[in-house]
Amino acid sequence: MRAYTHTARGPPSLTLNPTTLPNPTLSSPTQLLVRTTHCALNPGASIVMQLLPFIFRARPAVPEMDFAGTVECTGSSVTDMPPGTPVFGSIPVGQHVRSTSGALAGSIVVERDAVVRVPGTVALSEAAGVGIAGSTALACVTAAKVKRGDAVLVNGAAGGIGHLVLQMCLEKVGASGRVVGVCSGRNTSWVRELERGSSTDNAVGSLRVIDREAEPLVPRLVRDYGAERFDVVIDAAGIQEVYQSCPGFLKEGKPYVTVGPRLGRYTYAGMLGMLGTTAKNVLWPRILGGTPRPYVQVAAAASLETLEELAGMMERGALRVHVGTLVDWEDVMKVSDFAWWVCTLLNLDRHTRSFLADMLVVRLSLLLANRILLRMRNERVGSEYSSHRLVRIIS
Ligand SMILES: NC(=O)c1ccc[n+]([C@@H]2O[C@H](COP(=O)([O-])OP(=O)(O)OC[C@H]3O[C@@H](n4cnc5c(N)ncnc54)[C@H](OP(=O)(O)O)[C@@H]3O)[C@@H](O)[C@H]2O)c1
Repeated sequence: MRAYTHTARGPPSLTLNPTTLPNPTLSSPTQLLVRTTHCALNPGASIVMQLLPFIFRARPAVPEMDFAGTVECTGSSVTDMPPGTPVFGSIPVGQHVRSTSGALAGSIVVERDAVVRVPGTVALSEAAGVGIAGSTALACVTAAKVKRGDAVLVNGAAGGIGHLVLQMCLEKVGASGRVVGVCSGRNTSWVRELERGSSTDNAVGSLRVIDREAEPLVPRLVRDYGAERFDVVIDAAGIQEVYQSCPGFLKEGKPYVTVGPRLGRYTYAGMLGMLGTTAKNVLWPRILGGTPRPYVQVAAAASLETLEELAGMMERGALRVHVGTLVDWEDVMKVSDFAWWVCTLLNLDRHTRSFLADMLVVRLSLLLANRILLRMRNERVGSEYSSHRLVRIIS
């Protein structure tokens, strides 16, 4: 089967190689073999690819965990998924790290409880973006205890996680509630459309979408919502400034639920900074200047239960998945970052790229160059991976 593999940690452009691997085979009666059609590129999986040293993982590694495809064959105990069944799911992180098992490959072997059937009305490309993003969205909405009549702010509403959170909240708050979503200007129109598709009945809340780039976000939130503050804020982008200012627009005692601080740089320093920010937000007492609102950070993993719940939501039309970008197999590296262009221009071979990936000075220069390039293209920094950026594996 074809697969992208890597044997060193680092940015995809320096470490990934298109290659051919032996077809995986079933090793237990509870497993099934899925022929993958689509794979979602997730920020979380990118952290594993870029930061987890190879002493802790199988070599070679295949990146990514979320996928959709069709069942090829099953073990004898799997009786409800005949060959040809369209499925989506997520490779558990333990299996992903300990074996050469990743979603950026032509076939995957997983346990039966790692996949669910794709509802008839849903495209495989859409279902592929649901695994981790959908499970995290569900965890956010559950932790926030969103209820009928609530006023909810969703920051990062155009993200792979955020646009699912937004739809779940619209349904939960019902006709008497309201949801305000924050995203960049280029995403406002399709995010607005989610109001219509968010439920099969009309009992959804009203939606207002704010362009975070039109004017400084925090003063705007304080001005527009300072008097009648929100019952819940769900931050699916993890923006620290929004948390620190939330008493201006979030009611006293109400939770600030978040996916965790945004990782600006895929480096150990960036990771440490992120952990430090989380610790400060959770532990720093109010009397010493801590933000006086509970900081609730979710940690989600896809399970059979959550995948089934998400499939049910899609089936009854309560959840639509937005496919932001769909790239072909050959173009995987192009979506990654600036370094890809350098390697292509210089015609660097695999070994040179792996060697470069291990050099700190090269990694830092590439990060800087990538940052400048993204700024020039007016794209957000660190945007190269998103759960609604998908790879089409079989056209
Ligand atoms: N806690 C967990 O269990 C868990 C699980 C998975 C992922 N995560 C984390 O969750 C985050 C989001 O993941 P994702 O898959 O949804 O990523 P994503 O698809 O890239 O979405 C992030 C969104 O944030 C928005 N954004 C970027 N910069 C922003 C800013 N300065 N202010 C406000 N919004 C900004 C972007 O939309 P606009 O440009 O339109 O605003 C983008 O769509 C990542 O940091 C990821 O590591 C956490």
